[in-house]
Amino acid sequence: MMSTIDRGHWSSKLGFILAAAGSAVGLGNIWKFPYITGENGGGWFVLIYLICIACVGLPIMTAEIFIGRTAQSSPVGAFRALSRPGSPWIGVGWLGVATAFVILSYYSVVAGWAMHYAWLSISGAFARISPDQIAPIFATGDLSDPGLYENAPLNLLWHILFMGLTIAIVIGGIRGGVERWARILMPVLFLFLLVLLGRAMTTEGFAGALDFVFGPHSDKLTPAGVLEALGHAFFTLSLGMGAMITYGSYLKSDDDLVTTSITVSVLDTIIALVACMVLFPIIFAYGMEPSAGPGLVFVSLPIAFAQMPAGSFWATLFFVLLTFAALTSAISLLEVAVSYFIDEKGWKRSRATLLCGGVILVLGIPSALSGGTELFGAGFQSATGALGIKEGAGLNWFDFFDYLASNWMLPLGGLGIALFVAWRVGGEAREQGFRAGTQYGRLYWAWIHLLRYVVPIGVVLVFLNAIGLLGILDEIAW
Ligand code: TRP
Repeated sequence: MMSTIDRGHWSSKLGFILAAAGSAVGLGNIWKFPYITGENGGGWFVLIYLICIACVGLPIMTAEIFIGRTAQSSPVGAFRALSRPGSPWIGVGWLGVATAFVILSYYSVVAGWAMHYAWLSISGAFARISPDQIAPIFATGDLSDPGLYENAPLNLLWHILFMGLTIAIVIGGIRGGVERWARILMPVLFLFLLVLLGRAMTTEGFAGALDFVFGPHSDKLTPAGVLEALGHAFFTLSLGMGAMITYGSYLKSDDDLVTTSITVSVLDTIIALVACMVLFPIIFAYGMEPSAGPGLVFVSLPIAFAQMPAGSFWATLFFVLLTFAALTSAISLLEVAVSYFIDEKGWKRSRATLLCGGVILVLGIPSALSGGTELFGAGFQSATGALGIKEGAGLNWFDFFDYLASNWMLPLGGLGIALFVAWRVGGEAREQGFRAGTQYGRLYWAWIHLLRYVVPIGVVLVFLNAIGLLGILDEIAW
């Protein structure tokens, strides 16, 4: 049952590519990828990540856009349209909608920090504070940290502001909101990133950073790190919850599937690598640690900026860029939830956006306040224990949502999408769909075989790792 109202389309292929790249390029590229690269010692980790993108990410991206473009519907409707009545595949669509709520609720909190930091840079506050004043600004969720409760209202304020912006854009619809803002924000993002890269190249840390990111250092990488690379391939390409199904549903049915998926994946990968080449030279030049974890962008980098000539200017460029990257991703997360209520329940866009956005805003409050595990008592701890989270890991609401989404919901959704396209959708329709409008039809065989075998094996390994069955792997360093 497909909706009869015109759901809107992208104005051109470029519009789709910018919007899809906007979804993919986000905090995952500029905040998370550099810090997990740092934690895993660079070099080999980056290579393995590239293999995961090519062999797992790219085929799923193509599969998602294929589903959306074929069904011309958001995930739930798409699975219904492409499978037999009453079939359980529709569950993959439901899972996607639920995942959108979970991810955006904490994603918006991190994006709020980015906005807060952009504001601190613009107002020149960073230049005036000393390094040890910066760490507490970044509330880590450690209950013993007095900075936490002082910052709670601030985190909340920026979370609300960021969600407000996201809602305001999504209300404008596909052409007038999502695509329009991708066309403005993405070029600015590219430009700022290039300017920052130019600056980073002139620091004395550049050669060391090149070696760190691309040189073969085997000392830190563990098999668990390999699975982290695989998990991140899902997150960074916005896969596993139907975001690309949703965006693909606004394509016309003969738009080239293969070239667009490749373009978006390559853009996303280049930006993640360039982000490393912006961050690490600055980090190295000012004697900071590359393995600082989540605080790499929010603690180490501002300290380095504070010592740099014209540091406020460079910090402003960086944190505005980070905010823009997060915004175009948040838009896609909200659009998945919104399009479900429009397509399935027949709601008006404005009503769907305000309601979904409002619910996500409320869901994000615990993450913004970032209370420790203790706040949620023993029941919460045993629930997280069952999911393979080690006791005493200092897990708070925020980490819990991130863990749940990145290690369980996205891989599960990705598995469902891959199996559905590889084994369920009629072979002829699938092959025709893949070949429509593209000159890369000969990749069809590789696509199907990656979806059938490589993707499921990869996802199962992520699960085994998550429940700790591969715990022993943590001990082995290569
Ligand atoms: N890809 C984005 C990033 O790298 C995050 C994101 C946006 C996302 N939409 C998504 C992740 C859908 C998973 C699913 O920051």
